[in-house]
Amino acid sequence: MEKDLVVLLKEKRVFKPSKELIENSNVKKWMNKQGIKTYNELLEKAKDIEWFWEEAAKETIEWKKPFDKVLEWENHYANWFTKAQYNIVFDALDKHKDKDKIAFIWEGEPEGEIEKISYKKLYKEVNKLANAMKTMGVKKGDRVGIYLPMIPALPISMLACAKLGAIHSIVFSGFSANAFRERVNDETAKWVVTCDGFYRRGKIIPLKKAADEALLETPSVEKCIVFKRTGEQVEWNEKRDLWWHEITEKESDECETEILDSNDTLFILYTSGTTGKPKGIIHDHGGYAVGTAITLKWVFDLKENDVWWCAADIGWITGHSYIVYAPLILGVTSVMYEGAPNFPEADRWWEIIDRHKISVLYTSPTAIRMFMHFGEEWIEKHDLSSLRLLGSVGEPINPEAWMWYYKYIGKENCQIMDTWWQTETGNHCITPLPITDLKPGSATKPFPGIQADVFNREGKPIVDAGGELVLLKPWPGMLKGIYKNPDKYQKTYWEMYPEVYLAGDVARVDSDGYFWVQGRDSDVLKVSGHRIGNSEIESALVSHPLVAEAAAIGKPHEIKGESITAFVILKKGTEISEELRKELREHVGKEIGKLARPDEILFVEALPKTRSGKIMRRVIKAKVLGKDTGNISTLSNPEAVEELLKAK
Ligand code: PRX
Repeated sequence: MEKDLVVLLKEKRVFKPSKELIENSNVKKWMNKQGIKTYNELLEKAKDIEWFWEEAAKETIEWKKPFDKVLEWENHYANWFTKAQYNIVFDALDKHKDKDKIAFIWEGEPEGEIEKISYKKLYKEVNKLANAMKTMGVKKGDRVGIYLPMIPALPISMLACAKLGAIHSIVFSGFSANAFRERVNDETAKWVVTCDGFYRRGKIIPLKKAADEALLETPSVEKCIVFKRTGEQVEWNEKRDLWWHEITEKESDECETEILDSNDTLFILYTSGTTGKPKGIIHDHGGYAVGTAITLKWVFDLKENDVWWCAADIGWITGHSYIVYAPLILGVTSVMYEGAPNFPEADRWWEIIDRHKISVLYTSPTAIRMFMHFGEEWIEKHDLSSLRLLGSVGEPINPEAWMWYYKYIGKENCQIMDTWWQTETGNHCITPLPITDLKPGSATKPFPGIQADVFNREGKPIVDAGGELVLLKPWPGMLKGIYKNPDKYQKTYWEMYPEVYLAGDVARVDSDGYFWVQGRDSDVLKVSGHRIGNSEIESALVSHPLVAEAAAIGKPHEIKGESITAFVILKKGTEISEELRKELREHVGKEIGKLARPDEILFVEALPKTRSGKIMRRVIKAKVLGKDTGNISTLSNPEAVEELLKAK
């Protein structure tokens, strides 16, 4: 694999889009209308961001009342489309209310369970739930915690909240009870939505049980709405719990959509950062609607007859933006799948693509590498000729996985849109369009209206060398701060360089202006595309009574991108044992979620630290990977570095 990679990097192949793809693309048609001839001219012209984003809004959404100014920029907060009256639900739902067109084709994990939900039906279901929520007192600005798997109840809950002007905050259903509790408490939600359970790898995951555990210590929560998915027996709290089907049964299927300011909050989504506590990223209605809809329309080129499958989980930003809001705004048909990719067998995805004649597929490098590992024979059983475009997101895609995706899934007929973006950016930022020449492993160039660069430590742009990825100008989908933590917002994104947004990624721009994102800086891990803070894992470990100190690092992993290694110092007198190792792993699983369990736990007597007592993860990682540790003489205990290799 290493050898292939080197060959591919040297080869510098460029994959040009076909003339047909270019000429029929949404972006090209728009360029023709504007008299813009080339891709470069488009990028140049869109440097006038106010002009560009106003045009993008015209292409995608309709204001209830038009805006005063395209942009107001103050103290690193952007107010896009000021004073416009809006609610994303007008575009995502209400405007489609009479359509019989299918909004979601949903597949449950148990085979044969398929549900097709038309726009009309979706509209009615959302209204019923919104009315029930209204009866319970949910109103504009209230936070609602949602803990649901990949079932239609999830987008329905999101839209019902948005309809009332309430703020949804979704916690990934793979996260633990503790993670859910922490988020609910941070946002002081009075209402939560969950379900009895869901299917994963043939088993029932009892989600209500986890929610019950979380809600033991959430003083703000008054009511818990429970959707019946599996029909399993669940514990019931008479004072708190309400069955979804009972509270919606008698409600009307019409519900007025709250008219909001374009800049009002749509949702909070927690993500990992440099500290042990996840940060609540805030997104608004208007700017977010424009940013997500125009990127989906142009990058994935969706048209009336496309069947779109963004195979992410709605619990992450990819699902918020590109399973729920943008596809609904564009009125396309989306596929949603509840379960595991290899259930009952390794060809479940290819079966789904074949069955629903999916035309555009969007997934992650981890998934692609996993399918490579399963082998091509699983793909060959199915007809994938409906596919016309492919996408990748979440982590850097290695050229070898890119080539495999191109050859075996796309049959050398589909361009691959490698989209770089973040929870914070709301929408794609660095990404090809169907008119862009591709280089395997590069996310190519910034989307029109986005300006990016790579800076060295001194804040100067550098070419062909690794540096910090920065965004130079505001964009409509950008975050509107961190919930209840304005200081952290300023420190995390705006302190290192004045007036540019720090992404926290290391990247390189080549001499053609193509971006090569190499990965996160040292404080955040990417495991199977999931973003986990090193310090979250460390805090989880030290919350165990037998652990004194811990350091978590990422190691390159062939399928997952990164795997987690944790170095642990036990409290004095604690005996090392295999049981304890297992117990600590499960403890992290319980604190955060299974995906954060370390692959490897190693016990040591000491960890390298600075004189001020900060554990030097960078040095630990370099030592473990056999790289240069740099000058360690200033550490308070340089001898601890060698000791790492003797860890048990
Ligand atoms: O490190 C980058 C990586 O994922 C991070 C953002 O993670 P999250 O907020 O969970 O959002 C993931 C889905 C948008 C980025 O800082 N990342 C995302 N897309 C790419 C990527 N790294 C390289 N190439 C990408 N296409």
